Amino acid sequence: MTANELRRKYIEFFVEKGHAQISGKSLIPENDPTVLFTTAGMHPLVPYLLGEPHPAGDRLVNYQKCIRTGDIEDVGDQSHLTFFEMLGNWSLGDYFKEEAIRMSYEFLTSSAWLGIPPERLSVTVFAGDEEVSRDDESASVWRALGIPEERIYYLPRSDNWWGPAGATGPCGPDSEMFYDTGIPGSAESRPGVNDGKYMEIWNDVFMQYNKQGDGSYVPLSQQNVDTGMGIERTVAVLQGKKSVYETEVFQPILQNLGDIFSVSYGNDEETDRSLRIISDHIKAATFILGDENGVSPSNVGQGYILRRLIRRAVRHGRKLLGREDMFLHQPAKTIIEMYRDAYPELGRNADKVLDEVVGEEKRFLDTLQKGEHEFEKMLPKLLEEPSGVIPGEVAFRLYDTFGFPIEITEELASEHKLQVDREGFDEAFREHQERSKMDANQTFKGGLADHSEHTTKLHTATHLLHKALRDVLGDHVAQKGSNITPERLRFDFSHPEKMSKEQIKEVERIVNEKIGEDLPVRYETMTLEEARENGAMALFGDKYDEVVKVYSVGDYSKEVCGGPHVSRTGELGGFRITKEQSSSQGVRRIKAVVGNGEGR
Ligand code: SER
Repeated sequence: MTANELRRKYIEFFVEKGHAQISGKSLIPENDPTVLFTTAGMHPLVPYLLGEPHPAGDRLVNYQKCIRTGDIEDVGDQSHLTFFEMLGNWSLGDYFKEEAIRMSYEFLTSSAWLGIPPERLSVTVFAGDEEVSRDDESASVWRALGIPEERIYYLPRSDNWWGPAGATGPCGPDSEMFYDTGIPGSAESRPGVNDGKYMEIWNDVFMQYNKQGDGSYVPLSQQNVDTGMGIERTVAVLQGKKSVYETEVFQPILQNLGDIFSVSYGNDEETDRSLRIISDHIKAATFILGDENGVSPSNVGQGYILRRLIRRAVRHGRKLLGREDMFLHQPAKTIIEMYRDAYPELGRNADKVLDEVVGEEKRFLDTLQKGEHEFEKMLPKLLEEPSGVIPGEVAFRLYDTFGFPIEITEELASEHKLQVDREGFDEAFREHQERSKMDANQTFKGGLADHSEHTTKLHTATHLLHKALRDVLGDHVAQKGSNITPERLRFDFSHPEKMSKEQIKEVERIVNEKIGEDLPVRYETMTLEEARENGAMALFGDKYDEVVKVYSVGDYSKEVCGGPHVSRTGELGGFRITKEQSSSQGVRRIKAVVGNGEGR
């Protein structure tokens, strides 16, 4: 079965079962600042999973282009991809576990559809924990369909729970379907262990909770089903191929690259790895550039990911080629041809895609040339280093000033029998990131104009206030704006009505209590994803970098923020709200002060 056939059959099957086919959405989410790219078919459907009626009805099916950039560096192995297509069917408060599982089983095993022998299937269900009980219902449906108990695996939340995409949102237990490839695997083999034996092909998520900012799960007004089947992987499994790269969703690209570089895929592991990286990255780049909301390469947000994808592909091409030719537009063209029927926007935007690919490749090659020139200039001095090690700062300067990738500095160094102090480079890189993040965060935090001691105190007080407001008023409170002058803080937040005197007093009391406890203020850097998983508050409406700082005040508040903050809350002295007023429709505004003599 080819990818095109699978796509068609899936849609046909679910349309027969009363689902409306909806179109896939843009890769660049339109109204969701919590992620850079659409990462799953459910992502554009979040408002409907939360209860808003969908214009096409309550049974939906589609195919969706997706990008996940969490493990870009893993691409190159047999299975990781940045771009992939996901098939999905949804019930918005219509059918639930039983019908969803029955339909999945029928599509997988019926000879009219995929015809997978049932004995090749294993499934997993949620094992249950303190918050949500074991999913016996799903297990019993699988049993009734004939899956024997020993092929039903009960796994914890880390395996069998899905969502939310952001800090808060729809989520629930899931049941995953695995295909037994017949490869022996390891002693620990089971679904969810990546040893080649069990391949996940489909995921039925039972979205029945809405995760709140405080980490609790509140039942949704409707019970939803969200399923996802990755096309590339499923096709590889159905074709009995070792990897997605051996199927027709990659073969034409690999052949094209093979012609360009006069190599062939499958002969040499190093070469294959580079070919896989180039083909995955240029596919993702082609889809990003050719998107309805396409972006251009840049140094921020989606544009930065795009730049990284293209440059990493060029780097691997250059390594294979050993020359400096432009080549990336050729596989881009192949990809447009492969996918333009399923994704007509690629055809419409073909010229733009090719122009941008050529432009970025050229810019990068210029950069490389300049960097190499600089490196040559520095070389005599570097060769005098008795240790034979290039200091991290020197490598960082090449990177920072000339955009010269560290890997290339390392390559050039090794040609001259030198090494690079990679740790020193990483250290300099981190410091630089911290600095630029702090600058960026100050811009979006609004008005934190100086770092004087007093404004820093007000900044920490703002975190306490934000949390206390949520404690007193509820989780609907979200930051809508913040401005700090040397005299006072101002904080705008969503809340439908005027706060009562008692509520204001209670918020003040909590903040002063936390000040009295002299809590330590600390931060950690982590990916935005990890920050969310840790339950950190983040500002709706803002774009964040992939790596963010999360400040915590004792165990009390946790918030994504650039800082700076005081090191202990005791330094604030006391806290007093001076004003509570309306800011705009549904948004209240508080002004407050801190200092000795305030609030106590
Ligand atoms: N959201 C789930 C997933 O991505 C099912 O669609 O696996």
